[in-house]
Amino acid sequence: MAAKKTKTVKKAAPKKAAAKAKPWAGRFTEATNALVEEFTASIPYDWQLYPYDIAGSIAHAAMLAKTGIITKKEAGQIIRGLQEVLAEIVEGSFDFSIELEDIHMNIETRLIEKIGPVGGKLHTARSRNDQVALDIRMYLRDVITETHDLLAALQQVLVSLADRYQSVVLPGYTHLQRAQPVLLGHHLLAYYEMFSRDRGRLEDCFRRVNVMPLGAGALAGTVLPIDRQFVAKELGFESVCENSMDAVSDRDFAIEFTAACAQIMMHLSRLSEELVLWSSAEFGFITISDGFTTGSSIMPQKKNPDVAELTRGKTGRVYGNLTALLTIMKGLPLAYNRDMQEDKEPLFDTADTVTRSLAVYIEMLKGITVHQDAMRKAAEDGFITATDLADYLVKKGMPFRQAHEVVGRAVLRCLELRSGLADLPLTEYKKLSPLIREDVYAALSVEASVGRRTSQGGTAPTNLKKRLAVLKKLR
Ligand code: ARG
Repeated sequence: MAAKKTKTVKKAAPKKAAAKAKPWAGRFTEATNALVEEFTASIPYDWQLYPYDIAGSIAHAAMLAKTGIITKKEAGQIIRGLQEVLAEIVEGSFDFSIELEDIHMNIETRLIEKIGPVGGKLHTARSRNDQVALDIRMYLRDVITETHDLLAALQQVLVSLADRYQSVVLPGYTHLQRAQPVLLGHHLLAYYEMFSRDRGRLEDCFRRVNVMPLGAGALAGTVLPIDRQFVAKELGFESVCENSMDAVSDRDFAIEFTAACAQIMMHLSRLSEELVLWSSAEFGFITISDGFTTGSSIMPQKKNPDVAELTRGKTGRVYGNLTALLTIMKGLPLAYNRDMQEDKEPLFDTADTVTRSLAVYIEMLKGITVHQDAMRKAAEDGFITATDLADYLVKKGMPFRQAHEVVGRAVLRCLELRSGLADLPLTEYKKLSPLIREDVYAALSVEASVGRRTSQGGTAPTNLKKRLAVLKKLR
């Protein structure tokens, strides 16, 4: 799972530079139409692949020397040249050019400008088709590792909240109707489980990302005696792609990553919805700190849960990105097709959206104020322990279905008398069933309801304590 992190420097999108000759200009007699230039270029967004493109090229050059395809001296010149190009990009002096289409041709052209024709040997036994597949895989390894780390950090915040508010009770809901009391910690740890599955999906996806495509050439492999295992090892890949045609035309790994992210966003979106509800005056369960809320330009009293709302909204972008990727790939014949260049924006947008959402969520949750009394008050809703009354009758030997019926009648009687189950007089209970005795009231408290749910995975405080002990050690 652990990939060596390639250093990325976030910088502004490239500016336009003077026209440059295209590396593939040989068979053309006319210039590319300016509209086509703009239309086909990916440099406005794929520039961010530069650290991977350069690291991949350095490993490729080292392999070309090791196998005797180029000399050690030539490889040395190429590698030094690539390091200088990297420095130029990092410090912001590199001139990205739209005529050179993409990051691969921008870097290679600059290399040749710097070190002369020997730079032209770098692309030996390589095509942009396997090169771009390599770059995306390397980029995704870092993004997956980052996302995985962020999920782990978010889980730790959930664990510390659950730990801090161990005794807090709130209503658990089904159909958004008060159902049964639960511990706040238990509620929060439900999200812990979701994010554990998300981490598992990323780990699983990582294994399929971490396969090395370089050496596939344009699609059919190469006549030159390359050493793909060497390049894989240099770049920390677990294995190499078996089939050259699959290597250049496969984007399953990008789709898988986006699918995993769609589920992360879906989980964040559900949590967002709860935070929006809980921070409303109607619920009043939590306050989100000022730093993570915003005001209204017209209603001075308002404090809006925008981070939660935007996270919920951004979920749609990631679903859209997943649909876009699936649709781009559908119907493409083998092997590489230019359609595949359209994979980058959805992919980059997915990575940015998920990592930024997780990062802001981690900080926002840390600063949440829990209003225990409001939660408690809602949990004391007159009928929330109705299931407990049914269970009480079941324990006295009554079949559950019959118990359900008796409790239903008890609720009706309560509504007539404007009381809750916990204060319905014993005389009334006795009319409903002779099995009900004085000890019924002990079963109807919120504490008893929560405390007795000791079945594995249930909300009992003893369960929460045990689970927290395990999770705190996992850190
Ligand atoms: N910019 C291209 C992409 O992102 C790189 C590969 C181009 N290959 C080609 N034969 N035109 O997919």
